[in-house]
Amino acid sequence: MIPKRKNSNKMEKLLVLSLLLISTSIATSQSVTDPVAFLRCLDRQPTDPTSPNSAVAYIPTNSSFTAVLRRRIPNLRFDKPTTPKPFAIVAAATWTHIQAALGCAREFSLQVRIRSGGHDFEGLSYTSTTVLASFIGMYLGRSDKMLTVMNRDFPELKLKVTDCTEMRWIDSVVFWAGYPIGTPTSVLLNPKITNKLFMKRKSDYVKSPISRTDNFERLVDIKSSIDAENFWRNEQSIPVRR
Ligand SMILES: *[C@@H]1O[C@H](CO)[C@@H](O)[C@H](O)[C@H]1NC(C)=O
Repeated sequence: MIPKRKNSNKMEKLLVLSLLLISTSIATSQSVTDPVAFLRCLDRQPTDPTSPNSAVAYIPTNSSFTAVLRRRIPNLRFDKPTTPKPFAIVAAATWTHIQAALGCAREFSLQVRIRSGGHDFEGLSYTSTTVLASFIGMYLGRSDKMLTVMNRDFPELKLKVTDCTEMRWIDSVVFWAGYPIGTPTSVLLNPKITNKLFMKRKSDYVKSPISRTDNFERLVDIKSSIDAENFWRNEQSIPVRR
């Protein structure tokens, strides 16, 4: 169930395709290699003959590079000339594409960013900037239960049942993708971004690790032992012990 928005701001669209954005690693910025060599590397990897690895890769000299990159940027804050651009984009459609992209990123000391699923509203696959908040909530349950919780813990919001919309979870995905309530779920098969806008959204995060035992420390140990270089890097992932 989703409280109605109080303003008419459109939401950014969910991204559906898996795009691997290959960026020059900060740690090894001396390794700026020829992007064409990256394409050749992709074709040296195991490949599906019906869909060669390099045929889904875009490098900056490719005339479609900018269009492919911009098509997946829902937030205009990250669509500026000064926004860092990837070294290559792999529009992976098969496991072999993903394997090849990761293998070559490793070989060229490049960093990989994954663009898919809609959880990139903070621009983690670009860079972080600042300002502008919007306030929308989703509760996995019935509205009467949520109103009880909200009016007990956040009475200042004066939330009313008429502020809320109950829907199936899958319909909430359509809602978050910015379509009017009632739109058929089949629109999710079309990953096109229609409404672009400037925005900043923030999730709430716990301040200390949720762990009943020493799980977090154990995960940090495991991460540190199998990926000491932090190749599988994401701001929200288990960190490497320093
Ligand atoms: C751009 O890259 C795509 C995907 O690899 C490829 O199909 C296309 O031929 C390339 N275009 C040019 C002009 O090189």
